[in-house]
Amino acid sequence: MSDITLTDDLIRVLIDEETIQARVVELAQQINRDYAHLDSTLILVGVLKGSFIFLADLVRHLEVDHVVDFIALSSYDGGQSGNVRLLMDTRENMEDKHVLIVEDILDSGNTLDYLMRNFRTRGPKSVRTAVLLDKPDRHILPIDIAYLGFTIPDVWVVGYGLDYNEKYRTLPYIAEMKPQG
Ligand code: XMP
Ligand code: MG
Repeated sequence: MSDITLTDDLIRVLIDEETIQARVVELAQQINRDYAHLDSTLILVGVLKGSFIFLADLVRHLEVDHVVDFIALSSYDGGQSGNVRLLMDTRENMEDKHVLIVEDILDSGNTLDYLMRNFRTRGPKSVRTAVLLDKPDRHILPIDIAYLGFTIPDVWVVGYGLDYNEKYRTLPYIAEMKPQG
């Protein structure tokens, strides 16, 4: 990755593009195996905006029957996401369907806890999570991740969907940000 020039805000590349892409293929293969004998369509729900690149790469390796949906939440008021609010709901009817929530990063667990509880009231056959990054040091609520990309330390990361004030979201790799004062 010596050809990457980082801006002043970024300390280092934490996960390079090749490593991400290889892991996404592995996750898709696991999903293909686990949902191979589906009795109904699999609904993938991407949590906007952070998951959109992960989701887009993941679905292009899926061989099981699936549809893509999105949900938008507001969280992270001043670094905490205890208050999760629904901004845009999904469109698909989840009743008797298998649901896989696709999320960029698991931090406190508030977002995924909210989504799991919310979706379970809608009568799905199953609800699972696919999470690209996990920061175990930050967990407040226990969350079961069915498909995990990478475990990372408690640092702010950007790229591959993740942003800092909307910056760096479309970098093809994941980089560690300099702590912002
Ligand atoms: P919770 O605490 O609900 O948080 O598990 C999940 C959401 O927090 C955001 N988040 C980050 N976003 N770089 C980001 O760009 C990070 O390092 C980071 N840590 C948490 C993200 O929106 C995620 O969905
Ligand atoms: Mg997010």
